[in-house]
Amino acid sequence: MSIKTSVPLFIRAVQTVAVCLLAAALSACAGRPESGSLENLRQTDARQTDARPSDARPGSQPPLAAMLRGLPPIPMDSARGATVLQTLTLTGSQASPRSAGAVNDGSNLSLVAPAGGFEYGMFEFTPPAGTLQALVFTMDVSSPGSAWIAIANYERLAWDFKGPYPTLAGAKAFLNLNNGNYKSPGGRVYGLALAYDSTTASVQQVQLTVDDGQTPSFTVSGTVTNSAGSVALPGVNLSLQPGGHVAQSGIDGSFSFEDIEAGDYTLTPSLTGFTFAPPNRDVTVSNADVSGQNFVGTLQGGGPPFTISGKIMDGDTPLAGVTVMVPFEQLDTVTDAQGNYSFEILNEIEDFRVVPLLSGFSFDPPKAFLTGDHDQTQDFTATAYTIPDTVSYATHMKPLVFEPVCMNCHNSAYTGAERHGAHPDVNWDTYGGTDLTFKQHGNSRAQSGSMPPFGFHATINLTDSQKALFQKWEDGAFQP
Ligand code: HEC
Repeated sequence: MSIKTSVPLFIRAVQTVAVCLLAAALSACAGRPESGSLENLRQTDARQTDARPSDARPGSQPPLAAMLRGLPPIPMDSARGATVLQTLTLTGSQASPRSAGAVNDGSNLSLVAPAGGFEYGMFEFTPPAGTLQALVFTMDVSSPGSAWIAIANYERLAWDFKGPYPTLAGAKAFLNLNNGNYKSPGGRVYGLALAYDSTTASVQQVQLTVDDGQTPSFTVSGTVTNSAGSVALPGVNLSLQPGGHVAQSGIDGSFSFEDIEAGDYTLTPSLTGFTFAPPNRDVTVSNADVSGQNFVGTLQGGGPPFTISGKIMDGDTPLAGVTVMVPFEQLDTVTDAQGNYSFEILNEIEDFRVVPLLSGFSFDPPKAFLTGDHDQTQDFTATAYTIPDTVSYATHMKPLVFEPVCMNCHNSAYTGAERHGAHPDVNWDTYGGTDLTFKQHGNSRAQSGSMPPFGFHATINLTDSQKALFQKWEDGAFQP
């Protein structure tokens, strides 16, 4: 610490304290930052019978806890999130200098004031650049209760005091330090704890909080292990979205993303030949580093059952309630609140397709072709649509209706059993190839619910918005 700057100040301070404490006219002494005389303070602080110093009052909470629960959370209008404070902590034993009778008991500073006398300890902080917020003493006070805290005020060149604190355990604080000049010329902050007249005070710690003004950023980290032998799995690519952050697991399987701002993210591992449990993780970064985002990788190629899983996002929002179908396998499931789906393939299937369906949404890809011999992840991106005034084959019907549903059978690329009985002349991958009558029949059967044929309804069906598109297409004379 800077003895040169602090000693004269300190001597002046001790003199002030002594004068204050011994003077008959207490009102002559310095008050706390935001108020006047010590007499005022005595009156104010005499009312503090709970562990809430008077300067906490502007931020006091209304009495009804139920009311607080009913209020909306404080609005967040930027990615910055809440202010991040840096906290500097000194233990009571780090008081220096301290009065001759003050005892460092190893962790606490013990101040046992004789009758009519006092003991003190001083705490020096070297804060980082930024705005000072609060100086908080964790200090227990015993009866009769005349303990004080102080902070060096460089505007007045004197200590600002708060107290006397009655018999009271816990925190005593100077708040709103940004309203005053509490940094020494050398940029330090000095606090003082003091017990007077037969009062015993035990200072456990003193903390200075500083808002460093930086956009807070955090670390997201975890480890990837190989399910075979539970050893580290290096070389796994991890992506954290949104933001396009990428990382790779190291030789010990660990990975970390630095400089991540507060927000909601999806973390997804990938490595050719491996599947991962879980397939992805929702990560919420609020005001702290996030660790333990672990994954277990499994080399593909074991026997069934195989797990097919994935996530469906509408922009940054997980989309719940999407029916995910495997046509011809009588398998279907629905995405959960996190947009995740998964199902098991009990027997090896050579290949199959996965089709997401939800009224009013299109999906990218509209359907996915997978091979049924290993665990796999298949994500989809969803986009909401409304029924346009003019429906065309190319813009609407093919991508939104035929591709996901009808072309599973009516596809000119398919022959024989692949067509599942669909007429060879009815192919929805070509506009001109399917005759007008079939287009009309296609719609009437779509509306009546008899196409796709009944036997396949369990695993592939039209949504209401797909039916509405079909009707609009016919109403507009089947635009190409
Ligand atoms: C699971 C396979 C499958 C799917 C998917 C499928 N169809 Fe068919 N489709 C058939 C079979 C089988 C027939 C012949 C038996 C019948 O008519 O029910 C057929 C016949 C047809 C016919 C000719 C019979 C008629 O009524 O004129 C049309 C038109 C047709 N489908 C339209 C569609 C449309 C439009 C879709 C998408 C909404 C669709 N199909 C989806 C299997 C399928």
